Amino acid sequence: MKTFLRGCSAQLCTLFVVLLATSFTTCPCSAQSEKFVANYDESQVPDYELPPILDEVTAQADDFPSAWDARRSQLLQTFTEQMFGSVPTSEFELLFEKVEQAHCLAGKGIRQQWKVTISTESGTLPVTLLLYTPAQATGPVPTFLGLNFHGNHTIAADPEILLTESWVRDSKPQSATNHQASDEGRGSSSSRWPIELLIDNGLGLATAYYGEIDPDTDDQFENGIHALFPDHRPSAEAPDRWGSIAAWSWGLSRLLDCMEQIDQVDASKVVVIGHSRLGKTSLWAGATDPRFAATISNDSGCGGAALSRRAFGETVWRINTSFPHWFCGNFKQYNRNEAALPIDQHQLLALLAPRPLYVASASEDQWADPRGEFLSAKLASEVYERFELPGLALQDLPKPNTASIGVVSYHLREGTHNIDSWDWTNYVQFIKQLQ
Ligand code: GCU
Repeated sequence: MKTFLRGCSAQLCTLFVVLLATSFTTCPCSAQSEKFVANYDESQVPDYELPPILDEVTAQADDFPSAWDARRSQLLQTFTEQMFGSVPTSEFELLFEKVEQAHCLAGKGIRQQWKVTISTESGTLPVTLLLYTPAQATGPVPTFLGLNFHGNHTIAADPEILLTESWVRDSKPQSATNHQASDEGRGSSSSRWPIELLIDNGLGLATAYYGEIDPDTDDQFENGIHALFPDHRPSAEAPDRWGSIAAWSWGLSRLLDCMEQIDQVDASKVVVIGHSRLGKTSLWAGATDPRFAATISNDSGCGGAALSRRAFGETVWRINTSFPHWFCGNFKQYNRNEAALPIDQHQLLALLAPRPLYVASASEDQWADPRGEFLSAKLASEVYERFELPGLALQDLPKPNTASIGVVSYHLREGTHNIDSWDWTNYVQFIKQLQ
């Protein structure tokens, strides 16, 4: 059992104290009921001018890494204030308790479950980390860390995995009703989590249920991690405070805090991964926490890897209207107004440099704009190249089922919005550059 205390620095506090209460706008009811027609026609993509990743000083700097440090902080601050929202800087306590360890997968794997308890004066929040590592490993292993959508018990049909007691989304395939997880849902998402493939490749897999960090509902930030920091609750007067994506990302960092204490995990080789909204989350986690050795975003789309200014498929207005709690209040001022954004998503990807980055799309997932995701990764390559690392090798959006794996990786899987074994086979190749 271990306890750690984290605190804030005055500089950080002032860095995040900002902004413009007047620019906070909620979506009026009339806007919500407006019919949205997504554009899927390349010829209808508006003309746009992207903000540059490098400013003039950085572009011309002889000492690129130190000039990039300053530019990166500037960009990170703008993404924080205008899009994801700031995290609290007040103290909290962390308690890590191993609640279970056993051999699994016919002796090939070791399964562990850890209770990560986050506490403040306002309450406590338990999050269960589920970890698989290869039994044969002779030392700590590189490990994927990704949040799951429906509860840890859905990733494998294993009766020992603890059922979440948190709010879950009602869902037939996951046998979740009345917002409660059930035994019948065990293993219902296992196709998305090929544990054996990873174990056989000498790799670890860690996951936790995202709803334990913050239930994915527009609840005015009254529950989950937001409730532990009442002085940092987002509001009309504080439109720059953390939305749910920033909260889930912050939670990923707390899970990494725990993984740093686990002997079987090589904490210097943890790759943060996520699908869809959790792909947006993995990108923000990788950007805000440099301890993540590499980042994978699978079909992350709008607010993730896709360029907002293309307004192809899902748009800023649509995402802010359907999911008002995901981003901070300030982001709503860019509804139907992408041109006014001071940032775009190629700059978010650049924040991950020089650490390896993988952006993945699916050919039938036009809602997430595969071309916009590809272009973003291609543009972010500029920073990797300045670090004298190879950028994305592809020149154009490839044919379906093509993967280009390197420091900056991209693939287009044939098929729909999902994460499957083809995606993971490529991620296994990708993580090998860390080994
Ligand atoms: C919706 C949403 C996307 C999101 C996806 C998901 O489709 O519009 O932005 O990525 O849900 O998380 O599954």
